[in-house]
Amino acid sequence: MDRLEFLKRLGVLTVGASLIGVDAKAMVSDEDILEDAIPEVAASERIGTTIEPLEAVVPKPITVLVIGAGSRGSTYARYAEKFPKAMKVVGVADLNPYRRERMQKTHNIPAENLFADFNDALAKPKMADAVIIATPDNLHYEPCMKALALGYDVLLEKPVAPTEKECRDILKQAKKYNRIVAVCHVLRYAPYFRALKEVVDSGAIGDLVSIQHMEPIEHKHMAHSYVRGNWPLSEKTTPIILAKSCHDLDIMRWIVNKPCEVISAEGSLHLFRKENMPEGATERCTDGCPHEKECPYSAIHIYVEKQKHLHVFDLPRKDPKLILEKLKTTNYGRCVYRCNNDQCDHYVATIRFKDNVTASFTMDAFTPWGGRRTRIMGTKGFIEGDMKTFKFYDFRSGHTSVWDQKVSEIADYKGSGHGGGDHALVRDFVRAVSAQDENLLSSTIDVSIESHVMGFMAEKSRKSMKKMKVE
Ligand SMILES: NC(=O)c1ccc[n+]([C@@H]2O[C@H](COP(=O)([O-])OP(=O)(O)OC[C@H]3O[C@@H](n4cnc5c(N)ncnc54)[C@H](O)[C@@H]3O)[C@@H](O)[C@H]2O)c1
Repeated sequence: MDRLEFLKRLGVLTVGASLIGVDAKAMVSDEDILEDAIPEVAASERIGTTIEPLEAVVPKPITVLVIGAGSRGSTYARYAEKFPKAMKVVGVADLNPYRRERMQKTHNIPAENLFADFNDALAKPKMADAVIIATPDNLHYEPCMKALALGYDVLLEKPVAPTEKECRDILKQAKKYNRIVAVCHVLRYAPYFRALKEVVDSGAIGDLVSIQHMEPIEHKHMAHSYVRGNWPLSEKTTPIILAKSCHDLDIMRWIVNKPCEVISAEGSLHLFRKENMPEGATERCTDGCPHEKECPYSAIHIYVEKQKHLHVFDLPRKDPKLILEKLKTTNYGRCVYRCNNDQCDHYVATIRFKDNVTASFTMDAFTPWGGRRTRIMGTKGFIEGDMKTFKFYDFRSGHTSVWDQKVSEIADYKGSGHGGGDHALVRDFVRAVSAQDENLLSSTIDVSIESHVMGFMAEKSRKSMKKMKVE
């Protein structure tokens, strides 16, 4: 769709400003617009993009072997439960017997296709069309290289691998064996980001000149995942710019649609360090810590009272006694100032893309909410969004239009995380594998590696205090 067609769709060109939509200039002063308030608009002024159904219509279900049946592996496998005509889980490998058996029961997997270690599964002849790799960050490379050599297509969790060399090896291996590798950059598949990209690509904003993109982690999520949980140490997993924010580097690269040339970064671990521990704090929040009642990061508050992030415990039910037991025996009960973690809790990157398009990115732990916040500045228009809704402001007409489709209320999309992106990614992967056509994917391995290199270079810049070229 070009700019003209897009503006027509909004009614901007066909009907006068006073009849359709809101004359923004009449409602607020220029100063207000230059601040950050975008005026409210009439409900009729909606950007109506199409949201595709989640079920992939394919001649027969593609079959998958799931490697890593934890949180992400189960999320993708649930697609097969919802849409059995599109995908079937025929094998599983996970070291954790509870998770392995849970997946076996749900998908009726034959006993001979149950494995503890991924090496055992990949020592067998090819048993499915594709492999889903959802093991921890440092265990993507080996299964991916082996699976490609065996002729599997791969749905690969991000980050691709902990080093740039390993990422490039995977790219080479995919080419060598002519296989499809879809990296789980789920945001690209979320209807919100698809619609936002459609507006940018229509030319409605003119030339895209700069982006401000923020990833608010949410303070409890930071403590859960990057202090106590699976990703506290950058060396053992990946630096947070990849572990958490490779999605954001990728989404900026995707929206700008030009290669990144230069990146520089700053960031540090401000709060979650031993020297910030309040006096007398105990090893665990459950040890009678005198600060427990005031501490925003109290494990009792997060897990028992708020019942957040409980999936990591594999509990049969949300019973406070069972949760407390986990807090006494796992890292999730430890004081956030005693976790020997090193991931940054704030991170800022400045990026220059081709043609001097600039982007500023901030990742912040200390926010009340998660999601994403994005502003896009073009020569003819401006977009501002929060991952639920976005507003497009047309400079010439003064009109504001809104995209605010309630994705979570569409039956298909209920329970599909990342704004619907989780299962929309699987849908496109199923289509690509079924048709053996990687062009049906948005996040092919080539472009994913490019945005990962941005992350590696950002981290080099942060550590060396130098701007880095991205090649
Ligand atoms: N795309 C996203 O938005 C997104 C979100 C969260 C996590 N992730 C990524 O997904 C991956 C998995 O994260 P998760 O939260 O599901 O972790 P998880 O701990 O819930 O699951 C990982 C599973 O891998 C299993 N495992 C470990 N070693 C194994 C081995 N040798 N063989 C077989 N199984 C093994 C573990 O037992 C565990 O069940 C990570 O790389 C993470 O960074 C991606």
